[in-house]
Amino acid sequence: MNETFLHACRGEHTAYTPVWFMRQAGRYLPEYQKVRGRVSFLELCKTPELAAEVTLQPIDIFGFDAAILFSDILIPMEAMGLGLEFHEGKGPIFAQPIRSQQAVDDLVVPVPEESLPFVLETIRLLRSRLQVPLIGFAGAPFTLATYLIEGGSSKVFLHTKKMMYQEPQLYHNLLAKITACTSAYLQAQARAGAQALQLFDSWVGVLAPCDYEEFALPYVRSIISDLRAVTDVPIIYFANNGATLTKLTTTVGADVLGFDWRLPIGDAVARAGQHAVQGNIDPLALFLPQKRLEERIKTMLLEAREARGYIFNLGHGILPETPPAQVRIAVDAVHRFSGKP
Ligand code: CP3
Repeated sequence: MNETFLHACRGEHTAYTPVWFMRQAGRYLPEYQKVRGRVSFLELCKTPELAAEVTLQPIDIFGFDAAILFSDILIPMEAMGLGLEFHEGKGPIFAQPIRSQQAVDDLVVPVPEESLPFVLETIRLLRSRLQVPLIGFAGAPFTLATYLIEGGSSKVFLHTKKMMYQEPQLYHNLLAKITACTSAYLQAQARAGAQALQLFDSWVGVLAPCDYEEFALPYVRSIISDLRAVTDVPIIYFANNGATLTKLTTTVGADVLGFDWRLPIGDAVARAGQHAVQGNIDPLALFLPQKRLEERIKTMLLEAREARGYIFNLGHGILPETPPAQVRIAVDAVHRFSGKP
């Protein structure tokens, strides 16, 4: 069992720098496409044998130092009673957006063992097969709320911000319910065997710091403090596009802070203080010629050397267009330059 990743999360000394990539299981891999060709994305998420298979693919192919459960942040939202669909090229769609108190009242807070047993079964299967740690995850409440309120992906988040500003009580009622769901869901993942937990806050970068503090941060903090009461697995908080929020994100209570590429890694390390750091090469930098990609990784490792635990990752999810050969170059470079025996 290689626990290098967990040691880095805890700020302990590691023999080399562990690496994994957000969205490391997915469409850029022909092996994933092959499985996905037989079933829809949602079926894939709900079939433990297949979800475990695609989780393992990038570990077997590239030698990543951690696996991340194959699922989606919106799966527990479906279990709250919402009709979720994934449309090719359009992303996720909720046909009935949540914009009224009645709609909030109609949402159920699912019992994970009853409504999401396939996720917990996938975790158990993976634990019996993995030689590296398994990361469980959930969306952070603000990010999840944007999908529910907008009915899908968004650019300006009009309906979300209108609700925040014009109907704050409705907004807070919705967030409280999403938070209850997420808190129970992550605790269940830890009980099933997840060895670290990541909260994805993909869209908080669109918030002014004062709004982040009022409308997003309290819910993240509450989930983390609930988790602390029942488990000691490391908690990673990834606030995408969050460089303007670091005074606040350092207070959520996470062990590890994930950073996007807009902040130089050395600055991220300085701002993270006692936290371990995860990140943050631009996913598009994987398109650099080999020599330049390797030089960039070498520089990042040097700039991150003062971190109290460093985990190499992308600054956001890998793109489907990425050549797998480039992923191999990057993973090998992290391992070689950081002294993996
Ligand atoms: O990282 C991993 O390998 C684990 C699996 C994982 C997926 N989604 C699989 C997926 C994880 C951790 C997620 C998280 C997720 N999902 C986030 C947070 C991370 C981020 O990228 O900011 C968000 C915002 C979502 C919502 C979501 N799911 C969108 C917007 C889409 C469509 C994107 C697209 O490019 O079409 C998805 C679908 C999705 N989730 C796919 C995968 C592999 C593609 C599904 C397919 O095979 O067609």
